[in-house]
Amino acid sequence: MATPSVQIQISEPEYKLLQTLVYQECGMYFDERRAHFLQDRLQRRLKICGLDTFYAYYRLLTSYQGKAELSALVENLTVNETSFFRNKPQLELFQKIVLEELLRRKQERRDWSLRLWCAGCSTGQEPYTMAMQVCDALAYYYLRNPLPFEMPVPKPLIPPPWKVEILASDINYSVLRAAQEGVYPETQMDSVDYAYRLRYFDKVGDRYAIKRSLKDLVHFDFHNLKTEFLPQRNDIIFCRNVMIYFDEAEQKRLVEKLYRCLNAEGYLFIGHAESLFGLSDKYRMVHQNNGTAYQRIEVAG
Ligand SMILES: C[S@@+](CC[C@H](N)C(=O)[O-])C[C@H]1O[C@@H](n2cnc3c(N)ncnc32)[C@H](O)[C@@H]1O
Repeated sequence: MATPSVQIQISEPEYKLLQTLVYQECGMYFDERRAHFLQDRLQRRLKICGLDTFYAYYRLLTSYQGKAELSALVENLTVNETSFFRNKPQLELFQKIVLEELLRRKQERRDWSLRLWCAGCSTGQEPYTMAMQVCDALAYYYLRNPLPFEMPVPKPLIPPPWKVEILASDINYSVLRAAQEGVYPETQMDSVDYAYRLRYFDKVGDRYAIKRSLKDLVHFDFHNLKTEFLPQRNDIIFCRNVMIYFDEAEQKRLVEKLYRCLNAEGYLFIGHAESLFGLSDKYRMVHQNNGTAYQRIEVAG
């Protein structure tokens, strides 16, 4: 018979040390409601490391040799729930209003680049959704407006001279690996309608693989939103369902950093349960048919 595993008690000061360390590392704040989750994950990691006090675990995490363990702990704490076409009203706003406006504005300036960043991309469904929508928005735009250049045959996903870059980042290497692979089971495909499946996926066994041409538009990388060194010059940032795990002070810092990561008049999309109310007055809210986005306001001087 297996012996019941002995739980090592965590003292109040040990808990505070580890809670603060996690907060400083990645911005995730575990208040009383989520303390149980943090304690559970700490117990698991302590056991895996073969240590017998939480203070010893803290010492390991703060040592040079503990860097890999700190990453492993953070990976165990992230919530990676996501799906294709999540929050459809907001995506309608993204495709039909925001992208349309950006394409028109950029074409007028003969600026043929579009740079999007998906911050906190989890297993990739969100950036691939963005890529599908950008391709369709471009195709639809040039169905109604003359393309100022000759269209090559066969028609590429992105008509030249446009250049589309979608950067997708996360703090969790495991989800980034899955995102990079871009292969999804049927259970993940409920929200992907027929037409999208036909155009942008290949069926591989019983799974759906993102087509190479779409995949090539998305570049995955590690970025910790807690740090100051974040990707700049974006036309659009999606940072959805990430800052709900941060406290208000960290949310404010993040929203300020994202402001600086946007091009003039760029757009920020946040999660359905998130709001910039009380966090920043540097964005103008754009709201249509239950979809919300925030546009960077240009501050004079
Ligand atoms: C709930 S998922 C949201 C996924 C996707 N944005 C969506 O809305 O469907 C939150 C993601 O944010 C990531 N995350 C949490 N803290 C982060 C940080 N400090 N820097 C970067 N990514 C972070 C997690 O690893 C996780 O994949």
